[in-house]
Amino acid sequence: MAWALTPLTEEQREVQRVAREFAEREIAPFADQWDREQHFEPSIVAKLGELGFLGMLLPEQYDGLGLDMLTYLVALEEIATVDASIAVMMSVHNSLPTQMILRWGTDAQKERFLRPMARGDLLGAFALSEPDAGSDAASLRAQAVRDGECWVLNGTKAWVSSGPAAGVIVAMARTDSPGDRRGARGISAFILTPDLPGFHVGKKEDKMGLRASPTVQLVFDNLRVPAGNLLGGEGSGFIYAMQSLDNGRLGIAAQAIGIAEAALRNASRYAGERRQFGKPIKEYQAIQFKLADIATRVSAGRALLHAAATAKDRGEHVTQFSAMAKLFASETAMAATQEAIQIFGGYGYVKDYPVERLFRDAKVTEIYEGTSEIQRIVIARELYSRGGN
Ligand code: CAA
Repeated sequence: MAWALTPLTEEQREVQRVAREFAEREIAPFADQWDREQHFEPSIVAKLGELGFLGMLLPEQYDGLGLDMLTYLVALEEIATVDASIAVMMSVHNSLPTQMILRWGTDAQKERFLRPMARGDLLGAFALSEPDAGSDAASLRAQAVRDGECWVLNGTKAWVSSGPAAGVIVAMARTDSPGDRRGARGISAFILTPDLPGFHVGKKEDKMGLRASPTVQLVFDNLRVPAGNLLGGEGSGFIYAMQSLDNGRLGIAAQAIGIAEAALRNASRYAGERRQFGKPIKEYQAIQFKLADIATRVSAGRALLHAAATAKDRGEHVTQFSAMAKLFASETAMAATQEAIQIFGGYGYVKDYPVERLFRDAKVTEIYEGTSEIQRIVIARELYSRGGN
């Protein structure tokens, strides 16, 4: 199959093997059924927690595996190759709420949340978007008002992956006042739990793909949050969200590469089995060229992703690199799944083979955690901010 151009260490190969075997054994037999029934399987959260895969980037002090970004992404790709719905749950949890609490949380917040999150007892979610604030995330309107020892939140968050199953949600809300709007600097981050009074799970989305990953609105109706649940500095929530999405986008890129790799494997296997005009269709150059193009794009996408992850592991600023990796990987997932369906012909258009699900799952990687258009904006802005252009 497509090559990993970055040589993996023995430890990384071992984590990859564990992830692959877990995905094949625990997820693959059910992936189509969960997709069909829009079923979120909570036992997978517990099993991923037992494996340590929900604390991959957390230090051992908090029961995490203390792994680097590249190793985490290698495991995530393996999960995505089998089921992109499980992969997004794993990606959001590891990349966003756990990292935000680790980086900006108080000791008390870390003590309370990180160990149960690493063990899979508390699943994490991230709530930034709203019905009227998607690409323009800084225009969000959920409002938090201080009331004694609490903050009172009102508003609706949208497109929250894992929302109804989450035990911890890092949510962004405005803490500036209507008479003194401060734009991106008027937004703060809060750690929410579903038991707080005024917390409601709203509309569940009926999605094209990732149907085994529940996506919901969250409604805050005079939601009372203890003041101790403010995450980091007041007014810094948008910056935290953006910095965290630099990590999150690497996770989505790994998910997209996993989907594309699955399309390649399915299409090349099918091309060897399917016979037309007296020979297997893999013997026709038209099919060979399609497979060659998919394989090339998958390898290029993986190489870019691994380079970005390695830069992150060296402590470099990866805003531009992660946007590039996500942009390229998600467009690769779309192209690969589309061509895989073409190779399958009519059999690709029905649910008997996984490529139909892969195609539906691929599309969202060009949309969430920043659309492809937003990635291009981020990449272009970074060209100028580095000077000389
Ligand atoms: N790292 C650090 N700081 C950053 C940053 C980054 N990557 N990006 C922006 N900032 C800072 C800026 O420096 C600026 O700080 P100052 O106040 O000090 O100047 C501040 O944040 C505001 O930045 P901008 O002026 O650039 O903000 P903007 O309003 O122009 O928006 C944007 C920039 C890149 C378009 C941003 O809004 C964006 O990324 N939009 C897409 C939102 C997104 O990805 N949403 C995904 C939601 S999660 C999800 O998909 C669901 C899921 O569960 C999977």
